[in-house]
Amino acid sequence: MTDQIHDTRPIVVAETPGKKAYCMCGHSGNLPHCDGAHARKDVGVGPIVHEITENGTVSVCQCHQSCNLPFCDGTHNKL
Ligand code: FES
Repeated sequence: MTDQIHDTRPIVVAETPGKKAYCMCGHSGNLPHCDGAHARKDVGVGPIVHEITENGTVSVCQCHQSCNLPFCDGTHNKL
């Protein structure tokens, strides 16, 4: 993980089925999704790719300490 550059609370987003790349570097301009900024800034961490199987909302971890990455497990409340 890089230095914290955004809010540590999760981002809740409506998803459709398919492979999603969730930003783990915090530099994306399209949070919670990766926009390739990790490569442009060479921050040493990349996205977690996850297959979404059905329509619905997901809570994407932004503190990067969840034990269920890329999804929130409530750990941000203990930081
Ligand atoms: S932009 Fe953050 S992991 Fe890709």
